[in-house]
Amino acid sequence: MPLQEVYRRTNIDITLLSRIENGRRLPTKDQVMHLARLYGCDEHNSLVLLGSEKILFTLDGDNEYKLEAIKLAAEKIRLGEIPSLFPKLSTDSVKRFELESRRYIGSKAKLTQWIINIIQEHTGGFHSFFDVFAGTAAVSKAVIPYVDNIIMNDFLFSNNIIYKAFFGKGEYEITNLSNLLVQYNSIDPDNISTNYFSDNFGNKFFDYKNAKLIGWIREDIEMRRESLTEKEYAILLASLIYSIDKIANTVGHFDAYIKKAIEYHPLTFKLIKPLAPKSVEIYREDSNVLAERVSADVAYIDPPYNSRQYSRFYHIYENLTTWEKPELYGVAMKPRPQNMSAYCTTSARATFKDLIMKLRVKYIVVSYNNTYNSKSNSSKNKITLEEIRSILEQRGKTTIYDCAHKCFNTGKTEFIDHKELLFITEVLQ
Ligand SMILES: C[S@@+](CC[C@H](N)C(=O)[O-])C[C@H]1O[C@@H](n2cnc3c(N)ncnc32)[C@H](O)[C@@H]1O
Repeated sequence: MPLQEVYRRTNIDITLLSRIENGRRLPTKDQVMHLARLYGCDEHNSLVLLGSEKILFTLDGDNEYKLEAIKLAAEKIRLGEIPSLFPKLSTDSVKRFELESRRYIGSKAKLTQWIINIIQEHTGGFHSFFDVFAGTAAVSKAVIPYVDNIIMNDFLFSNNIIYKAFFGKGEYEITNLSNLLVQYNSIDPDNISTNYFSDNFGNKFFDYKNAKLIGWIREDIEMRRESLTEKEYAILLASLIYSIDKIANTVGHFDAYIKKAIEYHPLTFKLIKPLAPKSVEIYREDSNVLAERVSADVAYIDPPYNSRQYSRFYHIYENLTTWEKPELYGVAMKPRPQNMSAYCTTSARATFKDLIMKLRVKYIVVSYNNTYNSKSNSSKNKITLEEIRSILEQRGKTTIYDCAHKCFNTGKTEFIDHKELLFITEVLQ
């Protein structure tokens, strides 16, 4: 068709049409639509063609680089990332896991502001915070704006690596991590071999394909360990834990798996979003041993109060973190017991008292919920409210605050008027 005729029918300038024809200029979206209609081409296909021409037009470098850039762009689109001309800003806007985006029994994620407001008002301000049984570290995260130093502790390996990933100092290169993320998300589970993780947990806690992929990724992270910084290694492991939590075939812990056919939701590997506290100390020790060595303005105490052991509930995360591939036992495929807490046994009261007496702090803050008269034995509290109060009174004047709160409940007991309590003791110096 003569250009004059095309111009007449599309109103696109003749010089422009000639440049488009010679490949010296790319048309706009509107122009492509007009031309597609005129020539009877499929509009969608024409736009896709234009898009790919635009991408190639802006990319220079060797083919391997071009392909990597295109794959990364595809991944960013899949994750819903907002494009930006500034790569630094754009990597910050990639959707990543927040610290609270995790299922964990006894997490105080929904209560942090209530807890912190009370501590603030009661103490008139504090500069250092010791989270003795940090768990998810939701409370530690919430105190970041209020303090100069945070001391975090939990004896689980998986929690420790998560703290290093979110709170730890250290260098990390987000582009390298994002590239790995793209690589992990493009693996076809059918093309990789079975491994320790799929042999033990496939078709139980995870769909078989996902289990294969999880084991493969974990092994890959280990093989790269030498070339990663400590912080990068921690971020990758924490990200793996957060990612698999979303597809685990459980009610939120690994004491048992749901014994129904597993629906296949393919694993999407996403990175966690590190935080920036002013100063932090991270420990993986027994609470009562550590208490003798550190000091702070406030110690926050949130131990387990019933017989459920966290190291057993989260054995898969412990296994995945240490990656020593131990022999496993029973239906739930648990390793030999490790990190068993005295707080879950009949010596809970004595252990609690020992801790309280050792703490070198100005204020002791204790979380507690009144489930001790529960009908289920495993959720019955090992220490009563009165026992807590009388132990705390031995260190100083103690005040109790309460808040109505919905708790973790397996269904055996109706917790009418269930309350979350907070004790604050002003320690006699
Ligand atoms: C109730 S959870 C803490 C929840 C936490 N406040 C949160 O918001 O996620 C108790 C934690 O104490 C840890 N733990 C139990 N006994 C311990 C001990 N003797 N020393 C150190 N940590 C212990 C468990 O691993 C668990 O993560």
